[in-house]
Amino acid sequence: MTQNIAIFASGSGSNAENIIKTFQGTHYAVKVVFCNNPKAFVIDRCKKLNLPCEVFDRHIFETEAFLERLTSYEIDYIILAGFLWKIHSSLIRAFENKIINIHPSLLPKYGGKGMFGHHVHQAVIDNHEKETGITIHLVNEEYDKGKIIFQAKCAVSDSDTADSVATKIHQLEHSHFPKVIAEYIDSQRE
Ligand code: GAR
Repeated sequence: MTQNIAIFASGSGSNAENIIKTFQGTHYAVKVVFCNNPKAFVIDRCKKLNLPCEVFDRHIFETEAFLERLTSYEIDYIILAGFLWKIHSSLIRAFENKIINIHPSLLPKYGGKGMFGHHVHQAVIDNHEKETGITIHLVNEEYDKGKIIFQAKCAVSDSDTADSVATKIHQLEHSHFPKVIAEYIDSQRE
């Protein structure tokens, strides 16, 4: 049975594009991207991919109308792919155990408010970490604290910079995220 997916994204959207392309022609149907940033490059990516992209502001996000927009696409799962706002409790209740986030560190390290994208990689460099990685987890009411479903690691060397770590992290994300989403969705139907 087809499982309908909405992706939430705030920025470049390389993960969103990778998920959309990987799931084309499968029963994981990405129906729409929701974006909270009118200048985000993910909007251009959606145009090229011929996929609806709904841009919204904070006022709408907190309303029943936003939930209705999601419902109109008959969404089963929400994937946060570089989405930087906290998910409010009514959305979490409506999609319990059906919202999946990717975070660019080995949680619980480098999680929480203000820890996103480049800030995470810079902190990893500043603390001379020898390894970092990605965490894919369910979303609950606490930032970056939902149940972890997958982690993968990469090495950090003395010559690494926040930019080079970001490249390694994106590679890990692109090779694992769609597979982990598919496996999680399938596990919920067994
Ligand atoms: C990704 O690295 C993702 O893990 C991170 O933002 C990047 C988005 O890249 N998310 C967070 O930091 C969430 N706290 P993308 O727009 O190219 O997919």
